[in-house]
Formats: sequence, structure tokens, C-alpha cells
Amino acid sequence: MNNRELDVVVFGATGITGRQVAAYLAERAGESSIRWAPAARDIGKLRRLLDDAGVDAPEPIRADLNEPSSLSAMALRARVVLNLVGPYMLYGRPVIEACVSSGTHYADLTGEMPFVRSIIEEFDRPAREAGVKVVQVCGFESLPPDLSVLLAGETANERWGQGLASVDVEVAVKPPPGLPRASDAVSGGTLQSLVAVAGAEDADQIADPAVLIGDLAVAAAVRRVSAITLAPRSGRGGAVIAPMSPAAFINPAVIHRTEELAAVAAGRPAVPFRYREGVVLGGRPASLPLRWGVAGVLSATQAGLRWIARSGPSVRQPFARTLARIVPASGFGPSGDRLQGWTWSLSAQARTVEEQQIEVRVDADGHPGYLATARMLGEAGMLLAEDRATPERAGCLTPAIALGTSSRERFKRAGLRFSVQA
Ligand SMILES: NC(=O)c1ccc[n+]([C@@H]2O[C@H](COP(=O)([O-])OP(=O)(O)OC[C@H]3O[C@@H](n4cnc5c(N)ncnc54)[C@H](OP(=O)(O)O)[C@@H]3O)[C@@H](O)[C@H]2O)c1
Repeated sequence: MNNRELDVVVFGATGITGRQVAAYLAERAGESSIRWAPAARDIGKLRRLLDDAGVDAPEPIRADLNEPSSLSAMALRARVVLNLVGPYMLYGRPVIEACVSSGTHYADLTGEMPFVRSIIEEFDRPAREAGVKVVQVCGFESLPPDLSVLLAGETANERWGQGLASVDVEVAVKPPPGLPRASDAVSGGTLQSLVAVAGAEDADQIADPAVLIGDLAVAAAVRRVSAITLAPRSGRGGAVIAPMSPAAFINPAVIHRTEELAAVAAGRPAVPFRYREGVVLGGRPASLPLRWGVAGVLSATQAGLRWIARSGPSVRQPFARTLARIVPASGFGPSGDRLQGWTWSLSAQARTVEEQQIEVRVDADGHPGYLATARMLGEAGMLLAEDRATPERAGCLTPAIALGTSSRERFKRAGLRFSVQA
């Protein structure tokens, strides 16, 4: 890989998130020696969009999913491809295949867990043999909770020589002042990806916290101790906690796989712990009944998604087809000016098997889904491109295992500040 002309390529740089990843790398190129390029199927559109966004981008690369040779040519030019072309279930596989066969590291933002599982099954061995890292779910889902939980586990092991028994993750998001717009919350790309999962053949896997676990005994233990619960609940200080949004079925599977991969690396058996997460619904004390009401609606939405995923194809597939026509398409989503001014935090409260407690916090800024995510992925791409910046390990990896907990220092540059509380 040493003779590659570029460090990082951003494929899908015309999309809502891809544009922000390109903007981040353009900014980083001004202060580092990174060599990068944006890539898309329509170069004219790409140039126009990046110009409008004021992004100082190098010569773009043309790559189209319908022309597999263009994907290999793109992959062969870089050390890392960041893939922003979703829904991944429909479009992701050929890009991963091109990267693995070209010896190029790969990262994406998918949250489509049946797809992640199928990629592990098909590409983990070839990627290990090729020395390639395939890193999926590398945005707001699931990098911050994944790194936080691994850091809590490593710290507990260093301090007390103990493993974790449980982790509660609470996320609090504060939007900028002013009236919200419908497009602020979620993009057409994300909604179309949720619909793609709902219509998929193996959609019933989404609610399985062990969907990414290879070892059958470990998978059974994960399901026993850490089923995904969707009911609203009280959190620390009496806060109202709703299920994670936009989907409650993504982070748990990644976090349990990280424990399995960490155990393999340490030569110890995996010890599944109970993992629970949710979003803190803030507000004035007087609005408490309203918050429980909102949490109830969010829980019912996730339960509906799970019900659809578990129903037979005769219910699920027509439903997904109808939904695909109704929900906004690619191109819909928060505009660049709506992504600033957000702050958010994540608290991972862990308990060890002997009741010691540890908390890892992340304090961050930028819209979590489309700005902080883009910066995280951009920084992850830079790390993957650097020699010896990440643990020496190849295969289909979770963000925390691929990047290692010492990468948290680098994520400061991307607006994420990790800290271990006493
Ligand atoms: N995990 C997380 O935290 C997180 C956060 C944000 C987004 N995401 C995921 O990231 C993905 C992208 O989201 P988004 O909102 O940025 O989507 P988007 O705005 O719809 O962008 C999709 C991109 O895919 C490109 N594309 C589609 N078909 C193509 C083809 N045949 N060849 C080449 N490029 C093609 C589009 O190019 P054109 O412009 O030419 O159509 C566009 O650049 C979604 O799956 C979403 O769920 C995840």
C-alpha cells in the first residue's frame, strides 16, 4: 500500500454526509500532509456541490457502482476508501469487494445489521489474508459508544483486573436555538436505508443483539444477558430515557462484537455483559408527563419497526415498497448551515463483576448524525491511512477494535472529547 498516490478517497461525496466528509478532509489537508480526493458517479454534480459548499477539493475521481472496473480503479489509487453510498444493503458489497481485492482499507456508515453480518461472513477471512481493515458502522452509530465501552472495559481491567457486568449508555442532544425543520433530524439516505432493512430477506435479524457474534455459545449468552429492550425508563437523576434514535438495534450488536473480538485478541474467553442505551429527553420539570409521552411514542415506533422486521415477507416486502415511495428520497436532509450549533454528550456508566463503577463521557459538537459523524469518519479514514496509527489487526472489525482506544485523542480534532471519570 506504500506506493498509493492518495491516502483517502471519499466515495459518494455528493450526498448529504459525503459532502461533509469531503469538507472535513479539505480542512484537515490544510494542516496536515494528507492526500485525498472526492469520488462520485457524476463529476459535474460533485464539482458544483463542493464549489457551492466552499470546499477546496482536489481533482475528483469518477466511480459508478454499475461499472465494477471503476470501483477497482478507485480503490487501487488510495490507502483507504470511505464509502458514503447507501443504502449499503443495496450498494455496499461491490465497493467492499473492490477494496479487499485491491488491498485497500475500507470504512462506512451503515447501520444495516443483516448486511454487516453478511459482509463478515463473506469478507472477514479474505480481508485478514489481505491485511485489510473493513470497518463498518463508523459514525455516530456506533463509534462513540463502541470506543467508550471498550475504554471502560480496558480501564476496569487495568484498575481492578475485573471485567464488566453491565453498561448503561445515555445520550443527550441539544439542538441550536430556533424552530426545528423536518429535514434537521434525518436524511433521505438514512430513511431509505431503514426501509431497505425492513424489506430485506433476513430483516428478522435486526432485533438480535448477537447478530454479529460468530461463536454460538457467546451468542446465546449475549441474548440471555442483554436482550434489546424498547420500553421508556428512568435514567440517572430521574431523567426520562427513550430508545436510541433513529434505530435502537445498531449499537448493541456492535458493542457485543467488540467484546468478542477483544477477547480473541487477549486470548481469554468473551464475557458478555448487559448493555442498555437510550436518549435522554430533557426539558423543564413541568414537562415530565410530556417527556414520558414522547418516550412512549418513540418506543412504539421502534417496536413497530421490530414487528415489521419479524413479520413474514408477504407483510414486510409490500410494506417496505410502499414506505420507500412515501419517505423522502436521497438528497433530502439537513443543509450545511443547519449542522452547526448542536452539542451532545454520551455517558457510558459501567459496573464491573465486583460492583466497581466507572464512567466514560464524550462531549461533542456538531449535528450528531451528519456533521459529527462526517468528521468522525474523516478522522477514522486519516488514522487508517497512517502507518502504525491503529492496532495491527485486519479483517471485518468494529470501529473500536479497528482504531483502538488511543485513537480517542485524535477524535478531539473531530469535535469529540472522551474522558474517564473517577
Ligand atoms: N451510522 C451513522 O451514524 C450514519 C449517519 C449518517 C448517514 N448514515 C448512512 O450513510 C448513508 C448515506 O447517507 P446520506 O444521507 O449521506 O445519503 P444520500 O444523501 O442519499 O447520499 C447517497 C450517495 O450515494 C450516491 N450513489 C447512489 N447510487 C450510486 C451509484 N450507482 N454510483 C455511485 N454513487 C451512487 C449518491 O450519488 P448521487 O448524488 O449521484 O445520487 C450520493 O452521493 C446512508 O445509508 C445512511 O443511513 C449513517
